[in-house]
Amino acid sequence: MSNERPLDAPRESGDASQAPADVKRRRFLQSAAAAAALGATPHLHAQNAPPAAEPEAPSPAPAQAVRLDINGREYVLHIEPRVTLLDALRDYAGLTGTKKGCDRGQCGACTVLVEGRRINSCLTLAVMHEGQRITTVEGLASPSALSPVQRAFIARDAFQCGFCTPGQLCSATACLSEFAAGAASAATPDVRTRPAQLSDAEIRERMSGNLCRCGAYVNIVAAVRDAHTAGA
Ligand code: FES
Ligand code: FES
Repeated sequence: MSNERPLDAPRESGDASQAPADVKRRRFLQSAAAAAALGATPHLHAQNAPPAAEPEAPSPAPAQAVRLDINGREYVLHIEPRVTLLDALRDYAGLTGTKKGCDRGQCGACTVLVEGRRINSCLTLAVMHEGQRITTVEGLASPSALSPVQRAFIARDAFQCGFCTPGQLCSATACLSEFAAGAASAATPDVRTRPAQLSDAEIRERMSGNLCRCGAYVNIVAAVRDAHTAGA
């Protein structure tokens, strides 16, 4: 008669003849439980440890008077040297037409003109622009009329929520000036020569730094084309 126990037979208590596979399995389960307990210990310690101290906020730098020429008017702003041009415009000069989207140079909502060139005002410090001519969306129109680019945006319905529009308007204004000055773009077939015409591909490339979450791109391109045709 064989000593082998059928696999499905109940084991007798105190059975000294356990199969080697059962012993291995039990040892494995015991060591796994021990490892889990050890792994949990540091976590328990971490839970009981006092919270880490918050890093200290940098102490404010003394404010200084910064003179900015914005839309043809002089502003004397008392600001820290590390205030961005965007924050200086919105929070100190009260010119909230310029919008803060990403605050890290990715969306173009904060585009303004400095000496006629477009820049992302979130990426530059206000103190760096003393003595320079700054134009925001509030300064594009004359006292009596909207600018050609503004009129074209309205005629073409080139916005929906309007959040990106101030940046688009400033960017389009500079885009047309750059093209008129003969600047090439990544869409220009031969960058050694002046681009022959402001094609839609040129407009899309030159305006590619200004994002529109509403997706009004088709109408924005049409508006820039119209403003260009009108001689803006
Ligand atoms: S807010 Fe300046 S690029 Fe987005
Ligand atoms: S019109 Fe809404 S983000 Fe451009």
